[in-house]
Amino acid sequence: MPRIKLDHITKQFAKGSRAVDQLDLIIEDGDFVSLLGPSGCGKTTTLRMIAGLETPTEGDIYFDDQCVYSTERGINVSPDKREVGFLFQNYALWPHMTVRRNIAFGLENMKWEKSKIESRVKEICETMRISEYIDRYPAELSGGQQQRVAIARTLAPNPRILLMDEPLSNLDAKLRNDMRAELKRLHMTTGATFVYVTHDQSEAMTLSSKVCLMKQGLLQQYSPPLELYGRPNNIFCADFMGNPSMNFLDCTGTAEGSALSLAAGPLRLKFTPNAPVSFEEKKDYVLGIRPEFVKIVDNGGIEGRVVSSLPTGMDTVLSLDAPGIRLSAVAFGSIDYAMDSVIRFNFEGDRYVLFDKETGERIELGRLDIHE
Ligand SMILES: Nc1ncnc2c1ncn2[C@@H]1O[C@H](COP(=O)(O)OP(=O)(O)O)[C@@H](O)[C@H]1O
Ligand SMILES: [Mg+2]
Repeated sequence: MPRIKLDHITKQFAKGSRAVDQLDLIIEDGDFVSLLGPSGCGKTTTLRMIAGLETPTEGDIYFDDQCVYSTERGINVSPDKREVGFLFQNYALWPHMTVRRNIAFGLENMKWEKSKIESRVKEICETMRISEYIDRYPAELSGGQQQRVAIARTLAPNPRILLMDEPLSNLDAKLRNDMRAELKRLHMTTGATFVYVTHDQSEAMTLSSKVCLMKQGLLQQYSPPLELYGRPNNIFCADFMGNPSMNFLDCTGTAEGSALSLAAGPLRLKFTPNAPVSFEEKKDYVLGIRPEFVKIVDNGGIEGRVVSSLPTGMDTVLSLDAPGIRLSAVAFGSIDYAMDSVIRFNFEGDRYVLFDKETGERIELGRLDIHE
């Protein structure tokens, strides 16, 4: 299955700013890539340009060595010749056709042989676990079953690339979870290259091999999900990933040997970077602290007051007030904390992120200690 390469792809609609701005992206063969970002950041436009449904203003697109689009060379391979499957958010099934006919119809249009159509429909229905509904009409199926039929219909012609635009957004939470697992399984079994649009960070985290996070048409980070989560390029990326979201502490830093002495209100901390950084003498920073790295322990060095406690059973999300700061924290296990109770916490590990306050860019990860 092909590797997709976007080279300086820009899309400027007649009105408005650039929907996609100089996007460079390589989607490797067999990858499951999510295009992620807030509404309007250019995800759908990018997907449609890969499919050939939208014409870029600038740039080149390759499927392996084949150029399918080039502004300069005047190449534009039509959508039907690109052999991609496209699953839209509103996947309308034909209501007057059975599941079997819904899936077979496209193949008939492609002039497949009758016997080949029959065996392919049978096969894809087995893959999608809808064989028992094959002679039903869409109205006789649940939302999840209809979704599976829509996926089967898209996969039936064996597309080399499967493009999906928020395909699960119309399903309820439980079904959406089931379908996520199904999509991941499908990716394994088909070996196709998947490009998946979502605005839901947890969907992108759980499904993808790589996430392309965009903001206003500009690529912010293209990384495996855990790297995006753990080593965000900038404050936008850090803030977009994770729920509850990362805590951001405004602080002033003073170089102290290879470390940095930080003042956040009355709180004094020491940041020790994991790799050498030459700190300016004095500068403003933003410190990023994931809620799971706020460790509630009896002998913790900082005292906090519980503002709210939200136990899910598996863990508890806390909001804590400490001198000069408010932090969210995650405590694992079935524990509840009384409102206004006093707890103590520490910082542990070396996954705290230091950002440049002016640019918002990540400087380095490091350890965080309470300053003596
Ligand atoms: N056909 C169009 N004409 C003009 N502007 C458009 C068109 N399609 C999308 N846009 C604009 O391009 C930007 C990106 O849109 P889109 O790719 O749909 O974002 P997303 O899918 O990330 O929500 C938005 O500002 C949107 O308003
Ligand atoms: Mg969209």
